[in-house]
Amino acid sequence: MDVITVATDPIEGQKPGTSGLRKKTRVFMGPHYLENFVQAIFDGIGGAQGKTLVLGGDGRYFNDRAAQVILRMAAAQGARRVIVGAGALLSTPAASNLIRTRRTDGGIILSASHNPGGPDEDFGVKFNTPNGGPAPQDVTERIHAASMRVSDYRILESQDIDLSRPGETTLGATTVEVVDPVADYAALMERLFDFDRIAALFAGGFRMRYDAMNAVTGPYARAILEGRLGAPEGTVVNGHPLPDFGGMHPDPNPIWAKELMDAMMAEGAPDLGAASDGDGDRNMIVGPHTYVTPSDSLAVLAANAHLCPGYADGLEGVARSMPTSRAVDRVAQARGMAFYETPTGWKFFGNLLDDGRVTLCGEESAGTGSAHVREKDGLWAVLMWLNLLAATGKTVPRVMADHWAEFGRDFYSRHDYEGLDAGVAGKLMEDLRLRLDDIAGTEWGGRMVEAADEFAYDDPVDGSRAEAQGLRVRFSGGGRIVFRLSGTGTSGATLRVYLEDYTDDPARFGEDPQVALAPMIAAADALAGIAARTGRTAPDVRT
Ligand code: G1P
Ligand code: ZN
Repeated sequence: MDVITVATDPIEGQKPGTSGLRKKTRVFMGPHYLENFVQAIFDGIGGAQGKTLVLGGDGRYFNDRAAQVILRMAAAQGARRVIVGAGALLSTPAASNLIRTRRTDGGIILSASHNPGGPDEDFGVKFNTPNGGPAPQDVTERIHAASMRVSDYRILESQDIDLSRPGETTLGATTVEVVDPVADYAALMERLFDFDRIAALFAGGFRMRYDAMNAVTGPYARAILEGRLGAPEGTVVNGHPLPDFGGMHPDPNPIWAKELMDAMMAEGAPDLGAASDGDGDRNMIVGPHTYVTPSDSLAVLAANAHLCPGYADGLEGVARSMPTSRAVDRVAQARGMAFYETPTGWKFFGNLLDDGRVTLCGEESAGTGSAHVREKDGLWAVLMWLNLLAATGKTVPRVMADHWAEFGRDFYSRHDYEGLDAGVAGKLMEDLRLRLDDIAGTEWGGRMVEAADEFAYDDPVDGSRAEAQGLRVRFSGGGRIVFRLSGTGTSGATLRVYLEDYTDDPARFGEDPQVALAPMIAAADALAGIAARTGRTAPDVRT
């Protein structure tokens, strides 16, 4: 087997965003594109020589081809061992777990998360560091810098490696270890949660619908829910990972998981509905006639985690991303837990988790997780809900009613305006940013602005500072609007408007959030001129 050195030129735009490098699949399939970026990753981490790496992805189109290329490049560059999920599959949390427990030098995850897959859709590559978490900014900056000076890459000339089943082979001097993608992860879940109690719940007739959205969590959910916990066959739907996710948009929210929502809002709905995204790190929780917002879910889990064996000693602290609702803040305050507010993106939780400052963290974008790995974890959140339902004997609507009765309700919704002209969106943000100082003390839709600022974060562990993390406007009475541009899109710009309002009036707990938030929605448009500037009178997605 020969190592070939291929001459190449830097390719513009290989700059990792909120979560790795995401581009159209055809861009990744273009000449040298993937190879350049993988070379940049290796160069950015000081070379692959002697390293042990984890490799796997969410099974989307090009996942299998990309894995073979990466294996050949790792082998050509002297990696000691690459641990690959069978079928080149690994959910993001399962990859994070392997990276940590096998004490590796990091891992490469192939995924564009919740973005659709296929030749005309999205692909992505991200590097996670030895702690199992997404590469922090200094690492992604080194990778980007390396991508701008790459002049060649080394790759082994060889046949494809058989990744279909567990076992060990060698590629050049590199050991390729193919592992069952589910086994270690399932064992970890079994340590954290009371599987006997959950199994008893299912044995007692509890019904659940878990929608894997034809993405990576299918095999995990089938093995854990239907296998170990004894849920009836058919509990997991859309349970086989497909290259194009069967045409589904594997983003677990009420819009894209409509089939599940319809089932849960119908008569005779199961006791629990849940879904995860393309790479298995997001989750959606829904009870009969009850959608649980991710922000509320985080708060409920924070308040009840001690019911699960893995968290029986209580939580060190909790963290949420800035745009996530302040429901969890109330739990932290009431229970005396440390609390942190971080910028959007899971990577900002890493230091807090590593330093033992927090145990639980979450984002409004359907991401919840804990110190068990260094990524958010979809199925983990679902199991935690199951554990809490099993331990309390409550229904999902009862859990929510009790939670609001104790803490009050934070109405919440995110409005996304997708595919905007990047210039228009940038100007909207910039103009609003310049006006922030003048907005404080003014009234919008009958509500007074108490404070308006641009969020910046000083990491308490390493002292690094992240600036320009979103514009926030706080209103009297507990209302808040946050404006932010997405960092994960692959075309144009996406404006995210995060809306919330608080009530402790039990008579209002049942209100439809879109109705309860009407004053905030009107204020957002008035403040930023969304309709006037973009020509859009309604968001593309409301979560
Ligand atoms: C989005 C979410 C963010 C999440 C990220 C990766 O990023 O908003 O919470 O961490 O995807 O899943 P955004 O597109 O807003 O930059
Ligand atoms: Zn994801």
